[in-house]
Amino acid sequence: MGFLLVILGAITGFICFCITLLKWNEVRYRRKGLPPGTMGWPVFGETTEFLKYGPDFMRRQRARYGNVFKSHILGCPTVISLDPDLNRYILLNEGKGLIPGYPQSMLDLLGKWNIAAVPGYLHKAMRGVMFSLINTNMIRDVLLKDIDCFMRSHLHNWSDKVLDIQEQTKEMAFLLSLKQVAGISPGPVADAFRPQFYKLVEGTLSMPINLPGTNYRQGFQARENILKLLRKTIEERRASEVTYEDMLGVLLDTDDEKVKYKLTDDQILDLLVAIIYAGYETVSTTTMMAVKYLHDNPRALSQIREEHLEIRRTKATGEPLSWDDYKSMTFTRAVIYETLRLATVVNGVLRKTTKDMELKGFTIPKGWKIYVYMRETNFDPHIYPDPLAFNPWRWLEKNLEANMYFMMFGGGNRLCPGKELGTVIISVFLHYFVSKYRWEEVGGDKILKFPRVDAPNGLRIRVSDY
Ligand code: HEM
Repeated sequence: MGFLLVILGAITGFICFCITLLKWNEVRYRRKGLPPGTMGWPVFGETTEFLKYGPDFMRRQRARYGNVFKSHILGCPTVISLDPDLNRYILLNEGKGLIPGYPQSMLDLLGKWNIAAVPGYLHKAMRGVMFSLINTNMIRDVLLKDIDCFMRSHLHNWSDKVLDIQEQTKEMAFLLSLKQVAGISPGPVADAFRPQFYKLVEGTLSMPINLPGTNYRQGFQARENILKLLRKTIEERRASEVTYEDMLGVLLDTDDEKVKYKLTDDQILDLLVAIIYAGYETVSTTTMMAVKYLHDNPRALSQIREEHLEIRRTKATGEPLSWDDYKSMTFTRAVIYETLRLATVVNGVLRKTTKDMELKGFTIPKGWKIYVYMRETNFDPHIYPDPLAFNPWRWLEKNLEANMYFMMFGGGNRLCPGKELGTVIISVFLHYFVSKYRWEEVGGDKILKFPRVDAPNGLRIRVSDY
């Protein structure tokens, strides 16, 4: 009996301690003008609920507090906005007291010149440089033919095989970006790069704890190794007479008039890493999910296949795709956008206030983060009727891309500069995939949608000739 009382006392004491901690954390962040919400535990806040329950956590808090509420996630006090108008305002008005607010591990591992983290004039200059590398003319005249050539080789010989399409699309996005960025073809250099890049990606998504064995520490070492490899490539190029057409070639060409702002070597390195990083998961998971949705929707598969077979009928065997071919792929574009809508790769973007800010009648203190949560808009039944259905035709019936709440690629002065390039890459992949092959899933089809789109056991398909 005495023992039971001790246990009961301990449990009651523990519950009281937890309640006091939670209360203390609420009081600590109580300030006039802040939106309603809860702050969770000291230090950890509500990060666990946010990462584990994602969209449900957001909806639950919205039901309690409205479209704008406060929380403490990813190590910082944060205002979360599910309000489409406020989200749009924030994306369009970054200059007015807002800067990028990405988590510390991402900032540390992607470098201080990472385009997604630099504000102000330098950001504008780096975007100018980035556009000179991947604008529509460059895609049409230079990049498309490389993408076409790469895809034919990557998708060669898939017949009569069981493949993990998640692994294949990741490999596709990784190898293609290495080729485009620094002319590195599949082979020993790419093989040395691959494990380092994967560690870097893991590190950016980890807690910034710099201890031996942590993902963060390994990410740091990986970053050093990646920079070493890229620096070596720069030195070799400077010592040679050859001119290169890839992105590094353009950046190192001091006479190239396309590039108005000359970057230092450190800035070039961080820009290259940012390009590989930003295009990797976005392109690979969207491609994987497009394959998944097409598999599950025979009518859409039949229509997209017809679109691509029609293009092939006009071509000689082995003839590459042209820009006009790409522009004619209207149903493919609709499939890609519908995939992006349902399997949202970028759920939201983070900003940080540089001064106290008045937004929607609330006062957001200086130094707080704002999580612009765009994912919910993708499921708004007023914009997308029957929002859970995979319906690519909705993009053909209405110009939804012109809708003011279309934010899958962000908006304002940080609108994704890789929007068109990413769409071209996925389209060319789908072209060769659906026109050459048929496929069926053979298990491992569990797909997580939050915080990242991921098939934890892979997504295995059996491929045969079409
Ligand atoms: C399906 C494909 C893609 C999606 C859905 C996507 C989505 C996004 C979003 C939402 C942002 C805004 C981030 C913010 O506001 O903080 C962004 C920025 C960015 N994206 Fe993409 N992206 C895709 C493909 C690519 C590709 C292929 C590249 C590289 C070639 C790329 C490079 C970048 C860069 C460098 C930024 C930062 C821009 C800045 O801060 O000015 N993205 N992307």
